[in-house]
Amino acid sequence: MNKAIGIIGGSGLYSMDGFIQTEERVVDTPFGAPSDALIGGEIEGREVWFIPRHGRGHRLLPHEINHRANFWALKSLGVRFVICVAAVGSLKEEYAPRDIVLPDQYFDRTSRRDQHTFFGEGIAAHIGFAEPVSAELRNILLESAQAEGAMVHDGGTYVNMDGPAFSTKAESHANRQLGFDVIGMTNVAEAKLAREAEIALATLAMVTDYDCWHEEEEAVNVQTVIGHLMANAELAQKVLKRAVSQIPLDAEWPEHKALDTAILTSKEYWPDD
Ligand code: ADE
Repeated sequence: MNKAIGIIGGSGLYSMDGFIQTEERVVDTPFGAPSDALIGGEIEGREVWFIPRHGRGHRLLPHEINHRANFWALKSLGVRFVICVAAVGSLKEEYAPRDIVLPDQYFDRTSRRDQHTFFGEGIAAHIGFAEPVSAELRNILLESAQAEGAMVHDGGTYVNMDGPAFSTKAESHANRQLGFDVIGMTNVAEAKLAREAEIALATLAMVTDYDCWHEEEEAVNVQTVIGHLMANAELAQKVLKRAVSQIPLDAEWPEHKALDTAILTSKEYWPDD
């Protein structure tokens, strides 16, 4: 059975301490090229494949990321667990910059839905997505973050906007009124594709700003985001290192059989075809 762990690094996390790199793999996929070559190696004796979401040197805007190629490549390398690291804006006073949030829900405000599924063109499938995050993997992240002394918040709704511009104040206030917790531009597509690929996924969302709703704080800009991310990269790496070593590689979690109830294009359903 394949037992690798994937890490998708966000802005500010392009490599990892404690990662013994053994190879770099350029993977060609039916969906085109991934964000970058995948970097393979070991953390605490576990096989890990790392991919920087925006490419090395931050070349790709959120809508330019080929999420399908990224996940196809990870799956082809035997990845069954993915931890995403993602920069987010806070929509609640209590989530301060440099805190970690572990989202357990998403609200999808993106528009490129053909890019957010492997299915279509003859394969009619609908995955269950009521619980979009692996509870077991999220719990491992929680315990690891607590053990590293991080200010970590368990659960919360990640609203995914298109970008690349940040929100207007009207949008930011509306998102708050709807009860969302954090905002970002990338993670919902990853969660959907992971589920379709029967990969267990959880996200370490690193708070970098208060978006633009907060009266006393400066509205989000790239300098603030990068500043907080760089400051927190070391902590993120420690949490990841600890979390990776806690994943039971032979786990059979619900996400690993997500397609059992998802595919409509099959003889069982259409016996007369
Ligand atoms: N990523 C980090 N901060 C963000 C914000 N305020 N809005 C959208 N994506 C973000």
